[in-house]
Amino acid sequence: MTSDTPDARAGVGRSGRGGSRGPLARLRRGPSVPRGREAEPVLASATPRRRLRPGGEAEPVLASATPRRRLRPGKGRRRLGAAVRLLAALTLAGGAYSVFAPGLQASAEDASQLSGAAADGKALYDVSCVSCHGSNAQGVEGRGPSLVGVGSAAVEFQVGTGRMPMGRQEAQAQRKPPIYNDDQVRQLGQYIQELGGGPQVPGGNVTANADVAEGGRLFRINCSSCHAFGGGGGALSSGKFAPSLHPATDRQIYAAMLTGPQNMPVFGDNQLRPDQKADLIAYVQETLKNQHTDQGGFNLGRYGPVTEGLAIFLVGIVALVFAALWIAGKS
Ligand code: HEC
Ligand code: HEC
Repeated sequence: MTSDTPDARAGVGRSGRGGSRGPLARLRRGPSVPRGREAEPVLASATPRRRLRPGGEAEPVLASATPRRRLRPGKGRRRLGAAVRLLAALTLAGGAYSVFAPGLQASAEDASQLSGAAADGKALYDVSCVSCHGSNAQGVEGRGPSLVGVGSAAVEFQVGTGRMPMGRQEAQAQRKPPIYNDDQVRQLGQYIQELGGGPQVPGGNVTANADVAEGGRLFRINCSSCHAFGGGGGALSSGKFAPSLHPATDRQIYAAMLTGPQNMPVFGDNQLRPDQKADLIAYVQETLKNQHTDQGGFNLGRYGPVTEGLAIFLVGIVALVFAALWIAGKS
């Protein structure tokens, strides 16, 4: 009651009617009597204490004080009932929303329903990838890109070729001896896959029923511009380069095509069908890597016609100069 008093007094004072009554009367009856009925809702909502009255012990006292006050509990209860109904409606609406909204449900699943392999992958991720790619693979400004939606294929490529975890910031992550074994790479990939989906390298033999000759044709059309005719790689702009294809495994070549790392374009299944990818991989693995015996002599690094032209130009010019000098000395 003590906190009520100043309010009550102020209200009474302002209206100028409280002066003749004693402080006790003011305390007990409050300003509601002089103010009349309309004032009640204001007071009831202004001070939280008064809202408690209908349920509290104060009720009998009030009820006996004035007949008018008996209206209050009913009103209060009605108000309380309305509040409860509102709360129930809000809870129901919230519940219905969380059940039917697909996004919320999915994010809840992400957190709790990782498969066993993905949970193992997350443990690895939290140790060596989190610093650059963020706690939910959302990426870290200036350190590493988001991995949401890159799929297990990107992880298989990046971690399987030892590019990730990256040691230091450089123009292009280099191939290194991988620090994770195949099982761990699969677990990491599974985690990223369950987090955001994305391309996956199909299981089983990815070069089944391959046509090597067709693979050679596709390679010269799609890949040789960057990786050179012999697959030895070549320089690109800004310190970047297309690496040699010789160390890559079947699945790594497949994953590279699916994910298009760095400057490499993505060769999705619309650009190259899975059977065409199989042809290409077979060509890289069986033809390009088995050219140990060079029937024509020096292979000049297999860099293609430019090196061959340069070589013949240098050798030919020197030979012609000496021939000209020899003829001049004879005559
Ligand atoms: C030192 C920072 C660093 C660490 C540690 C690191 N990454 Fe990266 N990661 C990068 C950067 C930078 C790129 C982009 C550069 C590039 O593609 O060469 C990248 C790219 C990737 C990509 C390719 C994304 C795409 O769009 O295709 C994958 C997948 C990836 N990282 C996975 C991992 C995994 C898994 C780990 C932990 C085992 C890891 N990274 C650790 C910095 C890092
Ligand atoms: C525009 C140039 C470009 C074209 C075209 C291209 N690549 Fe690449 N490729 C790259 C670059 C750049 C990288 C290095 C990416 C990195 O280090 O993150 C690369 C990497 C690769 C690797 C990984 C090699 C390793 O280190 O194990 C493979 C495999 C590969 N490419 C296959 C292909 C195939 C197959 C094609 C044709 C279907 C192709 N690429 C077309 C630019 C290209």
